[in-house]
Amino acid sequence: MIAIGCDHGGYELKQEIKKYLSEAGYEFEDYGCDSTESCDYPEYAKKVAKAIVSGKCEKGILICGTGIGISIAANKVKGIRAAVCTDCFTAEATRLHNDANILALGGRVVGPGLAIKIVETFLSTAFSGDERHVRRIAQIEE
Ligand code: RB5
Repeated sequence: MIAIGCDHGGYELKQEIKKYLSEAGYEFEDYGCDSTESCDYPEYAKKVAKAIVSGKCEKGILICGTGIGISIAANKVKGIRAAVCTDCFTAEATRLHNDANILALGGRVVGPGLAIKIVETFLSTAFSGDERHVRRIAQIEE
């Protein structure tokens, strides 16, 4: 199960990503927001982050205007590794090396075509499991 959330700056891109997830057969739960009306991204970052650390969802997608504020907020929750990606190389690398559990996107940064490729890459790439990456992630958790 994938948790998805956004603020007003990410709402339109979230609609595109939800359409892709449905068509691709992914199960997801939308944690809001529900319109382009101004709202506070930490609220949605927290909802998606909690869905992951509770075990209800295995990965998350968060979208704000830049992807930055919402990822900073999500990374305050212990166990969350949220990565802002603007290209497929970093989306793949953050899964392989960081075992990132949240992909953060900027609705004002990437267009829907690229965003969907980034989502596809993030969701289809497994963590490498290499000892050095496991060790470094454990150091982050400490
Ligand atoms: C909202 O205007 C904007 O600040 C927010 O979406 C995000 O980009 C913050 O990092």
